[in-house]
Amino acid sequence: MRGKRILVVGTGYVGLTTGACLASLGHRVVCSDVDAAKVERSSRGEIDLLEPGLADMVRDGVAAGRLEFAVGSARAAARSEVVFLCVPTPMGAGGAADLRAVEAVVAEIGDRVPRGGLLVAKSTVPVGTSARLARLLGRDDVGVVSNPEFLREGSAVRDFLRPDRIVIGSDDPAAVERVAALYAAVDAPVVRTGAASAELVKYAANCFLATRLSYVNALAARCERAGADIADLTAAMGRDHRIGPEFLRPGPGWGGSCLPKDAAALLRVAEAAGTGFPALRAAIDSNARQRARMVRKVAAACGSGPARSLRGVRLGLLGLTFKAGTNDLRDSPALAVARALAAEGADLTACDPALRPGSAGVGADVRLVADPYRAAAGAAGLVLLTEWPEFRSLDWRRLAASLARPVVVDTRDHLDPAVLRRAGLRWRGVGRPP
Ligand code: UGA
Repeated sequence: MRGKRILVVGTGYVGLTTGACLASLGHRVVCSDVDAAKVERSSRGEIDLLEPGLADMVRDGVAAGRLEFAVGSARAAARSEVVFLCVPTPMGAGGAADLRAVEAVVAEIGDRVPRGGLLVAKSTVPVGTSARLARLLGRDDVGVVSNPEFLREGSAVRDFLRPDRIVIGSDDPAAVERVAALYAAVDAPVVRTGAASAELVKYAANCFLATRLSYVNALAARCERAGADIADLTAAMGRDHRIGPEFLRPGPGWGGSCLPKDAAALLRVAEAAGTGFPALRAAIDSNARQRARMVRKVAAACGSGPARSLRGVRLGLLGLTFKAGTNDLRDSPALAVARALAAEGADLTACDPALRPGSAGVGADVRLVADPYRAAAGAAGLVLLTEWPEFRSLDWRRLAASLARPVVVDTRDHLDPAVLRRAGLRWRGVGRPP
């Protein structure tokens, strides 16, 4: 395969992974960003993201001369056959996706892309964006294609190079084939669609996953009432090949930079169109209730007095990032629960393997320490909020000895209750018998 000249605009999770992986497939890639300091660091292979394999892949690409970084996109656009848009589309007014960054890039590069070029949207964008970008571009010699990205934080490189599927959509079938050819070396089924379907499928998948988790979390609450065990239920349900075993773990609610934003955006579009989306609305509302339910669970287990008040109660928190394997705090359910506990008056000390004391984004409500034993010292309970594997092998006897009350609330059902019980600790999980 002859490598193509590709520009990737935006060096966040999606852009950097896309750029580094396309370079590893043999393409000549320039990754651009507006942040000059980030560009400088990236070109030295210094990556802020906690992403296995990505820094090495960036360094290899740069060393092989297949990957470069640039501040601004205009110059590189003039030499590129394909431009991937990987800029953020954050939650804007009323939950709708904010497309200003995407539109700014099109304004910047629109006249520069060579004749016969392709503009490929990887950013998650609402239905109709391809058509809107084509109008903004105002050129019939440049194709517009939607190629949504399904990678997960923490396994971004693997997900890019070994995806379950590649979705490519455009109303111009020839443009679809040209984008498919870029992925020729990736062993994955390619789903070819029209523009609208490709744009919608990313929302469809993320919202389905979110709804599934809300269902599991609601089921966990039901289990607590019924004396059933959610672990048994999900093990049995997951054996049904129509359901499958993944994405069935209960927790403090779903979060991160994608699921909440995409759920809000799809709901907003559906409500604006007058059809609504009751199942999705219920999933979102249920997710908010799940966070509140975790706070009540902590209060019941660790609060003081008959009212189980958390005022002045010291708690140790294990984990703050939105999931294990990432240093990302964006829309973290763990952080939301921590803040809600602080609002109830709890005095919080937390530790997280990906965060150092003083890490930005944690806020003044939570004291961050480097190790779990310090977080536990003198606390009226430990609350596990993020499922870091290392939390499984803590010295529970030592923790039991340093806690003021021997209670662990495990909002992820991550720990082994039998191990904790043997260490003299009371374990409280989600949807499981105490
Ligand atoms: C999600 C999707 O999984 C990706 O396919 C998608 O590409 C990405 O969003 C995106 O739109 O860019 P990510 O945000 O990295 O990926 O996180 P997930 O691994 O999907 O987890 C989302 C949330 O669900 C986290 O809060 C996680 O803790 C929670 N979760 C996940 C559970 O509570 N239980 C589970 O069984 C699985």
